[in-house]
Amino acid sequence: MLSNQDMQEAAAHGRSVKAIYVYEVPVRLWHWVNALAITVLAISGWFIASPLPSMPGEASDSFVMGYIRFAHFAAGYVLLIGLAGRIYWAFVGNKHARQMFTLPLFNRQWWREVLFELRWYLFLERDPKKYVGHNPLAQLAMFTMFLSTTVFMIVTGFALYGEGTQEGSWAHTWFTSWVIPLFGQSQDVHTWHHVGMWAMLLFILLHVYAALREDIMSRQSLISTMISGWRLFKDDRP
Ligand code: HEM
Ligand code: HEM
Repeated sequence: MLSNQDMQEAAAHGRSVKAIYVYEVPVRLWHWVNALAITVLAISGWFIASPLPSMPGEASDSFVMGYIRFAHFAAGYVLLIGLAGRIYWAFVGNKHARQMFTLPLFNRQWWREVLFELRWYLFLERDPKKYVGHNPLAQLAMFTMFLSTTVFMIVTGFALYGEGTQEGSWAHTWFTSWVIPLFGQSQDVHTWHHVGMWAMLLFILLHVYAALREDIMSRQSLISTMISGWRLFKDDRP
């Protein structure tokens, strides 16, 4: 939040700066734990798909793939439990905690603002709009690119995991039993799970670029908001 001194300095220069508390602690904590889990999943998944060149010596002397797969599965559990906690918080948290899960699809004004944001990102608009929560384009991307991909990766990931833990395990009962037949066979699930990684990486690329760009250009705080929870609005141009 702004200190009194910041406020006084801004006022002395004839500017007003407002701060609004947006993201509560569980949302922020989840954001960064989730980002870390996905980083581990993408790196370990990469090596599962393209293992390191063969190691010298007896196979039983090294456990490199074992550690890589362990990291992947542990981060997979973090992703699942994190999402469950985040869904819980959507029910009990403030209204911004629900934004990622709900799209006002039948609201014309919202769609107009999605297009406006698109034009703003394409450098076709001069004056950024300000939002307390996510802007409509970010909201759309978080639902369609992030949330749907995450659910897909959890479903396909635990379906593959259940093949190892075998019949009778929860992962096999909940996922493997119907996901593998749905896709045809195990290799198809591997392939689509792999494609899902690229969908997720595409979201992250756009997301991190947009967060950095908005922080610099939109005259409102972005990255520090996901750290402190407070959104700062820098109202007047310097
Ligand atoms: C694996 C990497 C990441 C993923 C999957 C991810 C995903 C997300 C999601 C789903 C949200 C919405 C949060 C919610 O409504 O609960 C969000 C918000 C946000 N993320 Fe990330 N994030 C990642 C990395 C980063 C990084 C590295 C940064 C900083 C450069 C960042 C900055 C932000 C900011 C500033 C917001 C809030 C945007 C706003 O206020 O509208 N994220 N992120
Ligand atoms: C963003 C999330 C995730 C990413 C980016 C990711 C990435 C990958 C990639 C690239 C592969 C290799 C696929 C192939 O070409 O064969 C893989 C395999 C696998 N993943 Fe994931 N994954 C994610 C989530 C999960 C989750 C939540 C689980 C659940 C435990 C999981 C379990 C597995 C399993 C069991 C395999 C096969 C391991 C093997 O055959 O040795 N993944 N993952």
